[in-house]
This record gives sequence, C-alpha cells and structure tokens, in this order.
Amino acid sequence: MKTLENIQGSRIYGRRHGKPLKKASAERFEKYFPLYNIELDDDGLLEPAALFDQACSEYWLEIGFGKGEHLVAQAKANPDIGFMGCEPFVNGVSGLIDHMEKEQVTNIRFFMDDARLLMDALPENSLSRAFILFPDPWRKKRHYKRRVVSPGNVAVLSTLLKSRSELRIGTDHHDYCRWILARMMENPEFDWMSDGPDDWHVRPDDWPETRYEKKALEQGRRSAYMTFIRKAK
Ligand SMILES: C[S@@+](CC[C@H](N)C(=O)[O-])C[C@H]1O[C@@H](n2cnc3c(N)ncnc32)[C@H](O)[C@@H]1O
Repeated sequence: MKTLENIQGSRIYGRRHGKPLKKASAERFEKYFPLYNIELDDDGLLEPAALFDQACSEYWLEIGFGKGEHLVAQAKANPDIGFMGCEPFVNGVSGLIDHMEKEQVTNIRFFMDDARLLMDALPENSLSRAFILFPDPWRKKRHYKRRVVSPGNVAVLSTLLKSRSELRIGTDHHDYCRWILARMMENPEFDWMSDGPDDWHVRPDDWPETRYEKKALEQGRRSAYMTFIRKAK
C-alpha cells in the first residue's frame, strides 16, 4: 500500500509534495487514504463498480483535482454517481480528504499518481463524464509535451467516454486554451459545444468553481469553460 513515506515516482512533472501536512490533516490522511485510495492490480485492469460500496448509476473522472473543491461539490450534488479523481500532489489528496470529511461525501475514490496510469486501466465506455480543470499550462515550448491535454490523452478519453458524454476542460491561460481547442478539433471523435464566445466565457451553473479559477479571477484573468461531446459510437 502507498503511504506518505513510500510514494513511487512516474510520469509526473509537477510537485508531489508541498508543506508538511498539519497534524489534523495528517491524521485524516492516514485514516482515509486506505479507504478511498485506488490501487491498480498487476493485471492492469480496473472495474469502477468494484471501487464503491454503493451501486452507482454512472462513473465520472476528474484529472488533476488540485485540493478537490470541484470534485467534492460534484460528488455532493450527484450522490448516485461514483467519482474517480487523479492527483499526484500529496497536499492535494490531503485537501480532498479534508473536504470529503467536512462535507460527509463518500462517493469519491482517488488515485494519487499520473492520471494516464488509471486511464489505461479503465475499460472502454466506462465513463459518463470527465473533467480537466485548469491543467498546468507548461508555458515553455520545450515543455508542451508535458501538457495533460495531449493527443494521446484525448484519444484515450475518446475510448473511455460513452457515446454523447461530456468532457469539460477549463483554463485561464490564453495560449493553452488555443492548444486545447486545436487538440480537441484534430480528434474526430469530439464536438465542441459552443454557440459563441459568450457561452464559453460563462461558467455553467453545474460547474463548481475551482481554486485555480478563483485565483485567476482575483488576478484579473478570465477563464474559458469548454464542453466537448463524445460523438455517438
Ligand atoms: C493548476 S492545478 C489545478 C488544480 C485544480 N483542478 C483547480 O482548478 O484548482 C493542476 C493540477 O493537475 C495535477 N496534475 C498534473 N499532472 C497530472 C497528471 N499527469 N495526472 C493527474 N494530475 C496531474 C497537478 O498536481 C495539479 O494539482
């Protein structure tokens, strides 16, 4: 089992550790990590239904949930849905656990590693929605290959998402926004749901605010809220 002490490295480019956890958060981490953590088996296959105590109507995935504000708000608003979240940053997972306990939410399981490892283990057509919210922009050209919205990840998501399901991507970074649209347009399996700039500059009511989005707004940056639909299979 992974613990705070023996986290393995993988294809992660951001921070994995921040400030040491406060005592109460560290205790919550030790208590809840074994209950809600997703472990991948050696056979490399993951059946989402096996993760949850309850029967779930659908499974939704959030990639890079930060400290989990959006994930917990979605899970609270949609108690019949099983949520999976990926976040390699220990303090992020700890933040999620703190929010889960505060909000008494239990329909979330998290994977504390590169989202791609989890995505590669999920069965085709197992997801009814996915979110990539305010992914790290990796501003330097030589770092573009680190961007989570990559042709490979978009292709995998197109196999995991069911027909007519949504992929939501948000960003406050102008250049990454253009990159995201280009990557999504070049994949023939997705349609962008947009009638014009006004709609994708307004956050939908069922899209809770994230920490990074709030920070961007405070710093005077407008965000883009893009919804793509997986075409019928
Ligand atoms: C800029 S933060 C945004 C966090 C959150 N979504 C928000 O909007 O507040 C991007 C997050 O993606 C996570 N991340 C980066 N690469 C990832 C990967 N390969 N798999 C999963 N999460 C990743 C980072 O650790 C970081 O917490």
